[in-house]
Amino acid sequence: MKVAIIGTGYVGLPTGVGLAELGHQVVCIDRDVSKISTLQEGKVTLYEEGLSELLKKNFAAGNITFTTSMADGVVGAQLVVIAVGTPPHPVTHEADMRYVYEAATEMAQYLQQNSYTVVANKSTVPVGTGDNVESLIAKNVAQEKFDVISLPEFLREGYAVHDFFHPDRIVVGANTEAAKKVVYELYQPLLKLNPQCKLLQVSRRSSETIKYASNSFLATKIHFINEMANFCEKTGANIYEVAAGMGLDRRIGPSFLSPGPGFGGSCFPKDTMALDFMARQNNLDMTLVQATINGNNQRIKDMATRILTALDRAEEHPVVGVLGLAFKNGTDDCRVSPAMQILQEVLHSNSKLTVRVFDPQAMDNAKLLLESYATRVTYCHSAEEVCQGADVLAVLTEWPQFRDLDMKSAAELMRQRHIVDCRNMLNADTARALGFTYRGIGIA
Ligand code: UGA
Repeated sequence: MKVAIIGTGYVGLPTGVGLAELGHQVVCIDRDVSKISTLQEGKVTLYEEGLSELLKKNFAAGNITFTTSMADGVVGAQLVVIAVGTPPHPVTHEADMRYVYEAATEMAQYLQQNSYTVVANKSTVPVGTGDNVESLIAKNVAQEKFDVISLPEFLREGYAVHDFFHPDRIVVGANTEAAKKVVYELYQPLLKLNPQCKLLQVSRRSSETIKYASNSFLATKIHFINEMANFCEKTGANIYEVAAGMGLDRRIGPSFLSPGPGFGGSCFPKDTMALDFMARQNNLDMTLVQATINGNNQRIKDMATRILTALDRAEEHPVVGVLGLAFKNGTDDCRVSPAMQILQEVLHSNSKLTVRVFDPQAMDNAKLLLESYATRVTYCHSAEEVCQGADVLAVLTEWPQFRDLDMKSAAELMRQRHIVDCRNMLNADTARALGFTYRGIGIA
């Protein structure tokens, strides 16, 4: 099947490469000229484990191509996937639909008038967007020549390649049989590989809602376990034992019960706020979603306070060492990263405070976001270098290699021995034996 994908971000690119690997002929379209020229050299524009190799393989085989031209990509495609961003409005937090509607309007000029095309929305979009996209396309194309469906994405950043090939479910929001048939053909090779994967067919509006409901539920689960972590710290229980005990109940399940500094990334914060916005538009008060949003914002502030509290107040020029800047491990993405938000809170609190930072993948993206603090940030090349002269070491992203930090040399390199471990990566007993004060999450 010839598939056109509009948008080569964290959703569009892994999806395009995955579909090419399944045997489809994929054209990825993006307005960003520099991104497309990098991709045209067979090189990835973002970090995702396994993506570079898979892209090179399919690019060399001619299964995937890249273009800035909507016409080149869309003409002759049986399926056009919209995978552009829907960033939150800075004030209202509603999803900004500009890019989706621009893509729909532009693509409509090139859809075949003499054959049938399915337009699939993979961007996370407010409920009812499918209707609007359909109206925009119908201005140029006869109604019986196209269908607009909702095909929500459930890939996690950092695991996008793995998740693409091992989905739990594929949700299709389609109102016609013809559209369902195209999607079934698209995913047929994947369904063969994953007999346990269910292809769930629902109405377009239900499908759009499933995406918001899933992300908001997972965010709520994380917020809940974080509140339980606070509770455990006060009561002397251990959050891992509590989560293990809860997770064994099949109705609860063990995943998304890892406590941390709060959820972040480009999806959960945005989608919970957008759901709340849509609810209020419909005169509904979604109190649980609101509590999750507010509680998570407060948690970021609380984590910054933990770091500031650990510092010796007498120190005039405090130095904070930071391990991890990405919003989670396995990605270079710093958008709405709790690590970055905590770091910015800490920098904002005291103009004499400086930080030393390291992340295995996210240094370039972090630099762009920290430009206004440039003179107060030292970019290090290793976790050990971060420790040099630091008063407190804060672990903010759960990169597995941070577990290997040589605590003895960290103790020698640091000016003072304090650890605030927001990901429970370091060994508390070892740290304390070396004279550190150690504060973890949900453990005494
Ligand atoms: C999330 C969803 O998991 C995907 O299914 C969805 O496709 C994606 O959003 C999207 O809408 O595009 P992602 O944002 O990549 O994926 O990241 P997650 O792995 O879900 O983590 C989100 C945040 O929650 C991170 O800050 C992470 O550190 C935090 N988290 C996650 C926890 O604090 N504890 C956990 O147990 C799990």
